[in-house]
Amino acid sequence: MSTIKDKNLAVVGQQEVEWAARQMKVLEEIKTEFSNNKPLNGLNIGACMHVTKETANLMLALKAAGANVALCASNPLSTKDSVAAYLAENDVEVHAVHGVSNDEFFKHLNSVLDTKPDITMDDGADLVTLLLTDRSDISVMGSMEETTTGVIRLKSMEKNNKLRFPVVAVNDSDTKHLFDNRFGTGQSAMDGVVRATDLLIAGLDVVVIGFGDCGKGVAERAYGMGAKVTVVEPNSVRALEALMHGYEVKSSVNAAKIADVIVSVTGNMHALDKKHFDVMKDGVVLANAGHFDVEINLEALKQDSAEVHRVRDHVESYLYDGKEILVLAEGRLVNLAAATGHPASVMDMSFANQALAAEWIKDNHEDLEPKVYTLPNEVDLKIAATKLGLMGGELEILTKEQIEYLDSWEHGTS
Ligand SMILES: NC(=O)c1ccc[n+]([C@@H]2O[C@H](COP(=O)([O-])OP(=O)(O)OC[C@H]3O[C@@H](n4cnc5c(N)ncnc54)[C@H](O)[C@@H]3O)[C@@H](O)[C@H]2O)c1
Repeated sequence: MSTIKDKNLAVVGQQEVEWAARQMKVLEEIKTEFSNNKPLNGLNIGACMHVTKETANLMLALKAAGANVALCASNPLSTKDSVAAYLAENDVEVHAVHGVSNDEFFKHLNSVLDTKPDITMDDGADLVTLLLTDRSDISVMGSMEETTTGVIRLKSMEKNNKLRFPVVAVNDSDTKHLFDNRFGTGQSAMDGVVRATDLLIAGLDVVVIGFGDCGKGVAERAYGMGAKVTVVEPNSVRALEALMHGYEVKSSVNAAKIADVIVSVTGNMHALDKKHFDVMKDGVVLANAGHFDVEINLEALKQDSAEVHRVRDHVESYLYDGKEILVLAEGRLVNLAAATGHPASVMDMSFANQALAAEWIKDNHEDLEPKVYTLPNEVDLKIAATKLGLMGGELEILTKEQIEYLDSWEHGTS
């Protein structure tokens, strides 16, 4: 039995899911192959992912492969109730309602684990964490992880000998993080900022904290919209890369002094803290696009604010030291809370990786150790070639001689 807001929303959900499907042709090819061969026949798959129209298409592909699928949300604010209703109508067990409390959220995770999954799928390692703690009675063939923060948690579990089963770091596939994190987060995070505030970005000082795959994407999009972009980054190579891109590179405190808008994408806690709030300008806008709502220290901000009130949807005003600090989406993923997350076209590749990872775990789990794995490079090359073709690009084919030349050491200056 599913836990959803309203089954009557399924009609709207169907429209949304079908709209996303138009841009998810790589996944559609895999779904067709899955329908013919049923590689996951009879397996239980438990997923904890953002309940969006794109995720719905992944769940339907897994069903086409013959799996029984249960889904809960990986973030209470990203759930689309219409999508949840449509999936529930299509024989997916869904436990997700937009905006539920933390207690309800964890109840939903446990409901998914109650289905005794053979394979789990996470966006932030929450199911795996439960499987290694409160729900250690359940044993799985393996799991898959969607995001950088989840992979960091899993690698720490592996290092501390806590992991009991293999996990595929889907995030680490090139066709995931080089596209989803960069182009997906870049576009949708700026979309979230604009939808929440209606600000004209051109001419503003936009500070991007963290210059990883996501930060690069956010900086590029803000720059493309006419912002003066400043990057904050502790890794010297990445900081230098940002500088040579033409961005200003500053310490977090110096960047906070000049910012009109700050987007944090570090995967780290308290990237924005009291020392930053103290020096910010009146009316500054703060947004987080990192996985957890720990990047902005809201507790400290609230504690020292004379007043906090909601200005409009997704915007809260903190009266701090005589000035206003505006926080978007309660410090949660701004692109999913205030906008509609990554565009379907980029999730097409991420979820092609997820679908193929489920099959890979099923086929290989007996030979795998309790470690974090990445999918073989051929999977990346195949997904990229398919997507390239679908988007009208042409791949260069090397001649036999060129391949031999690249493989040899004998050739040099002639
Ligand atoms: N919003 C989304 O939809 C979405 C999508 C993909 C990933 N994510 C999340 O975004 C976060 C970043 O992902 P990524 O793939 O870019 O990771 P990444 O590891 O490639 O980059 C993070 C960068 O932040 C830097 N950093 C760490 N602490 C910092 C601090 N205090 N101040 C400034 N910089 C700091 C690191 O040096 C690194 O360069 C993760 O939490 C990830 O899970 C979100």
